[in-house]
Amino acid sequence: MLGSSIRRPDDAGIAAAVEALKAGRLVAFPTETVYGLGADATDDRAVAAIFAAKERPSFNPLIVHVAGSEMAEALARFDERARLLARRFWPGPLTLVLPRSVACPVSLLASAGLPTLAVRVPRHPVAARLLAGFGRPIAAPSANPSGRLSPTTAAHVAATLGKAVAVILDGGPTEIGLESTIVDLSGPSPRLLRPGGLAEEEIAALIGPLAPPDLTQTPKAPGMLTSHYAPRLGLRLEAKAVSADEALLAFGPKIPPGARATLNLSAAGDLVEAAANLFAFLHRLDASDASAIAVMPVPERGLGRAINDRLRRAAARPR
Ligand code: TXA
Ligand code: MG
Repeated sequence: MLGSSIRRPDDAGIAAAVEALKAGRLVAFPTETVYGLGADATDDRAVAAIFAAKERPSFNPLIVHVAGSEMAEALARFDERARLLARRFWPGPLTLVLPRSVACPVSLLASAGLPTLAVRVPRHPVAARLLAGFGRPIAAPSANPSGRLSPTTAAHVAATLGKAVAVILDGGPTEIGLESTIVDLSGPSPRLLRPGGLAEEEIAALIGPLAPPDLTQTPKAPGMLTSHYAPRLGLRLEAKAVSADEALLAFGPKIPPGARATLNLSAAGDLVEAAANLFAFLHRLDASDASAIAVMPVPERGLGRAINDRLRRAAARPR
């Protein structure tokens, strides 16, 4: 069975991958840097499946891949620096972190609830054909289980994530073998978040020197980012009952009555569905006129660990 989903990246292979993405399934594809584990970036459920497959204990924001600058500009707000870099280095191994546009259709889970979005236009021909064929943004972290090396061949992906992936497009070994360089342009001065396939000097030559990663904003632990989405309202975890002035973030079939507003992460108790709904539901309850958000217990297994990690950070935040 293992490896049976590896496809040649011919027209039929690309078409199969596009169909899988449209069906909300995962597709591994080569980029010029490393292989990506892709899903429809606008589909919360499909994005949740990425986190489930990688078995991450927390939600790391993902890079959103697009076919070209036009699609990128529909998702994020570009300033002059961003346009300069995009014109010069896209397609290529450069990821830009920019403010999400107002009507950005990308899943909040893909950016882990952040107000910013990491976007890039890969230059690998297979990635380019997949993106053009799909016609929508693809969220894709490197196609390795959490804590393992990034994959540079289709066989690496098949060996570790084969079961979770509907189609693996085999484009041979990747050219660069190192992830893209990430530059954060969402603040006043450009910041290097991750050195990678494009040299820092090349970027600095165009937009000036880059500040090093802020120690309080290390991309290694994005859940700790000070700019990370934090609800306005206080969170009360492990809630088994709810008061009339609280909003309730529920989980599972048995819901305590009486809340001012209730959203259920998953009535069926499905953790992938719960992860898909987490950030969108927190935003909605946070906008209600409740005094706090009571959160029912979420089991500490599978994606439940990442959900609880996020909820604990939000609950511990000083207000
Ligand atoms: O070369 C690459 O970039 C590969 C290929 C597949 O494109 N992708 C990749 O993705 O390396 P991933 O998920 O393994 O790494 C994404 C990095 C993470 O360290 C994450 O913290 C950072 O990008 N990131 C994503 N969105 C961000 C945001 N809005 N703000 C800050 N950092 C962000
Ligand atoms: Mg990675």
